[in-house]
Amino acid sequence: MLHGYFREVFSTSFMSKVEQLIAKRKESQLGGGIKRIESQHAKGKLTARERLEFLLDEGSFEEIGALVTHRSHQFGLEKQKFLGDGVITGYGTISGRLVYVFSQDFTVFGGSLSESHAEKICKIMDMAMKNGAPVIGLNDSGGARIQEGVVSLAGYADIFYRNTRASGVIPQLSAIMGPCAGGAVYSPAITDFIMMVEKSSYMFVTGPNVVKTVTHEEITSEELGGAQTHATKSGVTHFTAGNEIECLNKLKTLLSYIPQNCEEKAPSVQYANNQKETREQLNKIIPSNANMPYDMREVIEHTCDENSFFEVHKDYAENIVVGFARIAGRSIGIVANQPAYLAGVLDNHSSEKGARFVRFCDAFNIPLLVFEDVPGFLPGTDQEWNGIIKNGAKLLYAFAEATVPRITVITRKAYGGAYDVMNSKHIGADLNFAWPTAEIAVMGAKGAAEIIFRKEIGEATNPTEKLKEKEDEYNREFAHPYKAAERGFVDEVIIPEETRIKLIRGFNMLENKVDTLPRKKHGNIPL
Ligand code: HXC
Repeated sequence: MLHGYFREVFSTSFMSKVEQLIAKRKESQLGGGIKRIESQHAKGKLTARERLEFLLDEGSFEEIGALVTHRSHQFGLEKQKFLGDGVITGYGTISGRLVYVFSQDFTVFGGSLSESHAEKICKIMDMAMKNGAPVIGLNDSGGARIQEGVVSLAGYADIFYRNTRASGVIPQLSAIMGPCAGGAVYSPAITDFIMMVEKSSYMFVTGPNVVKTVTHEEITSEELGGAQTHATKSGVTHFTAGNEIECLNKLKTLLSYIPQNCEEKAPSVQYANNQKETREQLNKIIPSNANMPYDMREVIEHTCDENSFFEVHKDYAENIVVGFARIAGRSIGIVANQPAYLAGVLDNHSSEKGARFVRFCDAFNIPLLVFEDVPGFLPGTDQEWNGIIKNGAKLLYAFAEATVPRITVITRKAYGGAYDVMNSKHIGADLNFAWPTAEIAVMGAKGAAEIIFRKEIGEATNPTEKLKEKEDEYNREFAHPYKAAERGFVDEVIIPEETRIKLIRGFNMLENKVDTLPRKKHGNIPL
């Protein structure tokens, strides 16, 4: 009801028109109606609007297309129209930064995607591209609006096309907060990051029933495409969250590390640079036995700003650790071998994981920091037959093509091809540091001695003793960083405690780095 003052000032016909608008607004707020909202809550899920309220700065949301309805006349749909048609679209701010959002409303036809629903999403994506701001999609949908047939499929394709065109121009973030099945999964898959809510979201191309018919496998939705499955087995999701609030909070945190678009730098946070930057704890991390594991996350945590490490793909391909952090307030991307898992070896999954992260950082001007302790590529038929050649090449390609500031710290092993791949000087790194514990060689001493001294060892009266002697000889020659330093492949050998200050100064020095790729349409990364 309008305020009495307005009633006095405006004509009755104007008043009734405004009231009609207010009624429509109210109707649009209710999505599929109270009953369906209650059912959504009963499943432990927030509604599409509640999610946006929590995600965006208070009062910042401006809705676009609240009165859109579908145009379908099939299967009695003309009698069921809901304002907004199953998706809430618009813009708002997160910590004062502009973002475009869409939030699928499961209470309206199960959030299914109609022609109009797709048009709404496309509209805000087009605006995001013109205005250079991220798009965040909150997905909760039964997929294509079945009653609409091919126009719904066309709507999906219109979104996929825009996702692809926007890739590398503006950040695109996807949260999966309910079902996401069929071809619908390909929109989130093209976006930069996916976040899934445990137990209430799933993603698959074909669901359990089709799987049973085609392959006779019996499997639940959760096992086939739940958050844990995609976080550990497929690597489709980059993050998982225990509940929706945690998921939305993680989206905000992720956004804090990345810029608005490919022309801008990521926001920095205030940093008091009068702190003592020596980190003695780093001197104690590398075990005296070179074959013992240690957790590279400790190195990351003692080097970066306190509590700033935000890990990506935490439970997938754990032999490489990737994520965002800050050094003296500046956002950086970290790629680090993890000696605590499979000795930090590079394999198919870890190579792909690393490559994708490097490419994101490079696309969005986020400097790269590499911590290296890698015994090489994992041997075996499983690796070879599943393409370690092309997958390892992806990581190599991603680093070699990156033009952002790049620094490498070799903490221990840098062996074989993996030495070249892990952001070596030769493929364009700007600063390469090594700790005195670094071993930079073609391979480990034992393997090397067995190959180059095979005859001598075989003919020795005590082959074990001979092998040990030759191993020691190889170690003396190569199990240190000084051969690489002599050549300038390593710029400086540093005491671990000096790492942080060297990185602060290094990234400061590289702040205005300009490097361009040769003119081309686009490169051809070995996919
Ligand atoms: C139209 C749909 C719908 C859909 C759900 N609904 N999915 N309406 N098109 N795709 C409607 C239901 O009729 C119901 O309407 C309401 O949404 C809630 O659905 P329920 O089934 O009651 O909910 P729930 O038990 O939670 O199950 C959710 C669900 C299930 C698992 C998503 O609805 C389902 O399996 N839907 C079909 C999924 C599917 O096969 N989609 C097509 C995928 S192929 P009322 O009126 O009762 O509230 C695809 C191709 C994309 O998407 C290709 C792109 C290239």
